[in-house]
Amino acid sequence: MPILSLVHTKGGVAKTTSAVYLATAAHRRGIDVELIDADPQGSALEWATDAQGDNPLPFPVVPATRPLTVNSGRELSIIDTPPGTAQVIQEAIDIADLVVVPTGASPLDVRRVWPTLEITAHRPTAVLLTGVDLRTRLADEVKALLEGEGVPVLATPIVRREGVRRAYGTAPANLHGYDDVLTELMGALVHV
Ligand SMILES: Nc1ncnc2c1ncn2[C@@H]1O[C@H](COP(=O)(O)OP(=O)(O)OP(=O)(O)O)[C@@H](O)[C@H]1O
Ligand SMILES: [Mg+2]
Repeated sequence: MPILSLVHTKGGVAKTTSAVYLATAAHRRGIDVELIDADPQGSALEWATDAQGDNPLPFPVVPATRPLTVNSGRELSIIDTPPGTAQVIQEAIDIADLVVVPTGASPLDVRRVWPTLEITAHRPTAVLLTGVDLRTRLADEVKALLEGEGVPVLATPIVRREGVRRAYGTAPANLHGYDDVLTELMGALVHV
């Protein structure tokens, strides 16, 4: 029952988006997945509520227990966390088999990622580049920079797309690369 936690101290880096897309990708593969919303803002729960009706999210989205525990017995639990340094973030890191840190791929984004990597250093961690503009080489440069410091970076970047932005509050149709990201994460989980 692996646990993946999406963590970044900074807001708006695609934690919730990545959590929903990865859960969708897992569900499509026949994995019994749940999404645990540990953000007091309840963004993932809100997403699920907004998607109810014709095309609901095909997996359960549940609020986190406090203290954070996972004992649902599902094949995969994905935890979405709030930005900041709240206790629940520490708990989501401690409980995770693998921490995924989504970040943009600019020099400023890289500056902002180090504090998060410090608090996840005691757990297996992988950086996911999101909102990437393929017209620039920034993603490659940032990947090389992070890997030079010993930080694992997933090979699949998530491109900045209008379709991802519009998918908020719906069941994502196109996975926009998150299926490949899930493949990498499942591969990494075998080794942790
Ligand atoms: N690949 C992408 N392309 C375009 N827009 C994106 C992409 N990924 C995320 N976004 C948009 O970026 C915004 C922030 O995403 P999201 O809410 O997932 O971030 P977050 O890290 O969960 O934020 P918070 O810290 O506030 O919880 C949203 O409007 C979302 O639709
Ligand atoms: Mg969020």
